[in-house]
Amino acid sequence: MKIRCGLIGFGTVGSGVYTLLQKHRTDIYKKTGVDIELVTICDVRDIKDTVNVPVTGSWQDVVNDASIDVVIELIGGIEPAKTIILSALNAGKSVVTANKKLLAESGDEIFAASQKAKGALAFEAAIGGGIPCVAALRNGLVGNAIQSVVGILNGTTNYILTRMAEDGMSFDEALKLAQAKGYAEADPTFDIEGFDAAHKIALLSMLAYNVRVSMQNIYIEGITKITSLDIKYANEMGYTIKLLGVSRMVDDKLDIRLQPVMIPFTHPLASVRNEFNAVMYNGDMTGAVTLYGKGAGSLPTASAVVSDIVSIAQKQNGIKDSVYIANDAQYLSSDDRMLRYYVRLHTEDRAGILSKISGVFASYNISIASVIQKEVNAPYVPLVITTHAASEAAMHKAKQDIEQFNFVNGQVMVIPIEDFNSTGE
Ligand code: NDP
Ligand code: HSE
Repeated sequence: MKIRCGLIGFGTVGSGVYTLLQKHRTDIYKKTGVDIELVTICDVRDIKDTVNVPVTGSWQDVVNDASIDVVIELIGGIEPAKTIILSALNAGKSVVTANKKLLAESGDEIFAASQKAKGALAFEAAIGGGIPCVAALRNGLVGNAIQSVVGILNGTTNYILTRMAEDGMSFDEALKLAQAKGYAEADPTFDIEGFDAAHKIALLSMLAYNVRVSMQNIYIEGITKITSLDIKYANEMGYTIKLLGVSRMVDDKLDIRLQPVMIPFTHPLASVRNEFNAVMYNGDMTGAVTLYGKGAGSLPTASAVVSDIVSIAQKQNGIKDSVYIANDAQYLSSDDRMLRYYVRLHTEDRAGILSKISGVFASYNISIASVIQKEVNAPYVPLVITTHAASEAAMHKAKQDIEQFNFVNGQVMVIPIEDFNSTGE
């Protein structure tokens, strides 16, 4: 079924939604049964030459268009965003928004209006950029009593802290870069003074504990007072500094704060770098569940907006969320699967052996990256070789050939090395 959407705000996130739909609209339809049509785009800037969709400068054109099912509010701030959302709900439309400031500060009124409305309100993009942390809490973890929510919830500040710690970049330089990459709020004070992340921990707490949370009761401290010296001293002590939202129920009392915190290098959140965010939910049934991904930026956030549109359309139109299988998978062959390898064997320790082994690798076009031989007083010595990327099929043949040598004792151990980078990509 077709769902007709009006998009208000064609900035970082709005333009991401447009780009995403240009690329994936057909596939989304095949996967979900929902065909997302962008009927009108509204922005105060003149964007008519950048898009192939009718544009307007007046949000009323979108909200008053009877043919529009879903209004996507992506201008940010309190007004006119609040009026847009309330008017759209009153007009029987559904609303998708990324506006955490508005929801955290005026959630009461908006949630109440959405309860009475025919349409739905969805805000996955308001927290954690592309991470489905709202859906995880509301659906995936619904069988739990949530005991705590802890998270790195702001991409801009995490990016700044990472660049300061890893490149010795100044605070101002790092902030400018974060702004250029589209991570920061229109007013970056909201990021660096902690208000943006505080809005998010407030919203997550409302969802986690079903209580009203007022911003005045949250201790909020940003990262503007953190210096390179603090980062250096923390590192020397085995800690990293992260801007953390912490929300836990202690004897039915909410402990909620947003502040720079030192966490040990060994903690899962310590390795969350750059614009990445991570949220840890502690459910009474599941224990800790951690979600990790890009917490800001055009396309990751657009992904969350689109997921909201699809789930609204599916629920309202009773579309069965069945698994879509297009055709049989085509599999990568062993010849084409390229991996680095660790190879360990036990061999006699005498002249010419290493060249025979390296000769086998060369014959299969496998390039050696490093060789370590331990000096031990035994008939067979351990030899450890790592390789550059080589085909899996070639490595299997090389292993078999090497095991045939009479100077090699036992089997050759081969383990692939997956060089994931620190963001998990
Ligand atoms: P941008 O400032 O990049 O985009 C907002 C756009 O809306 C601008 O083009 C702006 O024009 C336009 N606009 C402002 N007022 C109106 C109006 N009354 N009518 C029509 N257009 C208007 O913001 P983002 O895309 O970064 O953020 C949008 C929302 O998404 C915010 O709520 C933000 O908090 C949230 N968000 C942002 C993320 C990000 O990574 N950037 C991630 C997650 C959420 P002008 O600039 O001329 O005012
Ligand atoms: N300014 C926000 C951030 C955008 O840096 O995380 C995502 O909500």
